[in-house]
Amino acid sequence: MAVVTILNEDKKLTDVKEITANLASHGIDYERWTPSHPIADDAPPSAILAAYSREIEDLKTRGGYVTADVIDVSPATPGIDAMLAKFNREHWHDEDEVRFIIAGHGLFHIHTTTGAALAIEVEAGDLIRVPRGTLHWFNLCTDRRIRAIRLFQDTAGWTPQYTESGVDENFLPVCFSAAHLSMAS
Ligand SMILES: [Fe+2]
Repeated sequence: MAVVTILNEDKKLTDVKEITANLASHGIDYERWTPSHPIADDAPPSAILAAYSREIEDLKTRGGYVTADVIDVSPATPGIDAMLAKFNREHWHDEDEVRFIIAGHGLFHIHTTTGAALAIEVEAGDLIRVPRGTLHWFNLCTDRRIRAIRLFQDTAGWTPQYTESGVDENFLPVCFSAAHLSMAS
C-alpha cells in the first residue's frame, strides 16, 4: 500500500480511498492490482506480464498505451547511480509515467499545478499513472530496489525534460514504510 504525504500540509494518507481520491484530484491515477494467479516477484518478465494481462490490456485501452515491459533495478545494476541521477531532479515527460510495482520501493515527488508538493511512496501491488506534463522527480529507498511494469504510449516521449527549478532540493526523500532515508544521489 502506498503512503502519500502532502508536504505543505504535513499530512499523511494511508487509506486507499483517501489516497485514490487525493491523487485523482491532481490527475494522478492510483490502483491496487492483484495477479490473476500467485507469482513470484522474481518470475521472468513474460510471466509477470501474463499474470497482470487483464489489468495491462485495460490500461492500454484507457490510456492509449502500446507497449509494456518490466524494469528491474537493484544495487547490482550497472550504472545505477547515473541512472537514478537522471530522475531525481524535477522534470516532466511528453509521455505518461505508468508504473506497477512488483518488488522494492520507490518515492515519487509531485509538484502539482496548485503549487502543492506530494510524496508518494510506492511498493508491491501499487499502480501509479503520472500524466504527461506533470512536474515530478523520483528516488529509490535504501533497499535501492524496484521492479516494475512500465507502459508506454510512445517510448520517444520518455526522455526527461528538466525544469532546473531546484525545488527537488527542498525535500528530503524520506521513505516511511521502509523507515529509512533514500540513498539515491
Ligand atoms: Fe519521470
